[in-house]
Amino acid sequence: MDKLILHHSGALHGAVRVSGAKNAALPIMAACLLTEEPVVLEGIPRVTDVVTMADILRRLGVRVDQDETRLLIDPNHYTGSSAPYELVSVMRASLCVLGPLLARHHRARVSLPGGCIIGPRPVDLHLKGLSSLGATIAIDHGDIIATTAGLYGTTVHLAGASGSSVLATANVMMAAVLAQGRTIIEHAACEPEVVDLANFLIAMGARVTGHGSAVIQIDGASELHGATHRIIPDRIEAGTLLIAAAALGGDVTIIGARADHLGALIETLREAGVGIEQEEGSLRVRSDRRLKAVDVTTLPFPGFPTDLQAPIMAMMAVSQGLGVVIEKIYPERFMHVPELRRMGAQISREGSSAIVRGVDRLSGAPVTASDLRAAASLVIAGLMAENTTELRGVEHLDRGYEHIEDKLASLGASIQREAS
Ligand code: EPZ
Repeated sequence: MDKLILHHSGALHGAVRVSGAKNAALPIMAACLLTEEPVVLEGIPRVTDVVTMADILRRLGVRVDQDETRLLIDPNHYTGSSAPYELVSVMRASLCVLGPLLARHHRARVSLPGGCIIGPRPVDLHLKGLSSLGATIAIDHGDIIATTAGLYGTTVHLAGASGSSVLATANVMMAAVLAQGRTIIEHAACEPEVVDLANFLIAMGARVTGHGSAVIQIDGASELHGATHRIIPDRIEAGTLLIAAAALGGDVTIIGARADHLGALIETLREAGVGIEQEEGSLRVRSDRRLKAVDVTTLPFPGFPTDLQAPIMAMMAVSQGLGVVIEKIYPERFMHVPELRRMGAQISREGSSAIVRGVDRLSGAPVTASDLRAAASLVIAGLMAENTTELRGVEHLDRGYEHIEDKLASLGASIQREAS
């Protein structure tokens, strides 16, 4: 497993382009199962989660060819309806083949996702939504088996204890586009990735309105055709880079970053004393002083994204004062805390909250990442810390960040990958 060697880095300067959004690409790749015609997806990030989803599609008989950041998908050789455990267990997002397989082939077998380091990841809203449309759901040997004689539009309520569900909304949308009649999804997720999926489905001939709001309306079609679609930029990668530049100081432009996808983060960074301007198709961040402590509460979009909670906690670790983090989406998503503590951070946990008391500086240490966003947090911390930090668990970073070490190094960060 590779590791990253991180040294104390000064201010960052320059411009980098953000890659396509992993969390938009994954459900959109699954949605290709809804047609038998070829699809071209552009702006695809070269991350391992996309490779895993491509492998799942190939196991279903779909032809998938990658050309740089383009995917050429030909679903016309579809042969199976089972997403195997060894692939689903490494990536929860594989769950979103359920809806399209059910809609197009009236049958789907997908392993129940295994445990997850960031806390329980239930699937009750997925199953409730698909059942509402007329699916029969059974659990057999750890697999979800969904069958139907035909899906029928209805009103589906998708509110969970933590609010809306991104992938459950995606699954129900992808089932509803081929159901008979009208489906109304109440308490739908509003994330930009859900909007991007809706726009892709519309490009395939689906009739979807209300996407981006909590009520999505879908009028079922008899079939969908192929399409070409460009994936939206990755707001979480962009946010991670903005936070890194804020924490290290400097003047950085993130090309492709969209202010309308990052409103909560931009507001929080400005509260901390960071300058952020929207320029033509980019976001420019400037920071030249020690930042003030901020408070962060994670919420469904447009609230502060849970995926940026770990990265911003690294910045908070050296801010002036005391900041409080309240994690409302995944109450156990604090695996990065003990690792940050090893670097000298003063963080105390209280259930689903963490209190971060800013210190003057962190000190480098060998640390290990447990998940994708914890890895990003430790990269930022390692670049801020005195001396050297060795980060293990880089395979987590590669799941959702395309060559982030190259992007940060191009801005002046002292970071290199060591193959082990
Ligand atoms: C998506 O996961 C993202 N993954 C996650 O990003 C992200 O953290 C999450 O949305 C929240 O924004 C992808 O898009 C591939 P949820 P998803 O269903 O859809 C509860 C990353 O780092 N819930 O929106 O699986 C759940 O427990 C990943 O890129 C139910 O109760 O998340 C959580 O508290 C991590 N029942 C809340 O909803 C269900 O059936 C939101 O989860 C489903 C979810």
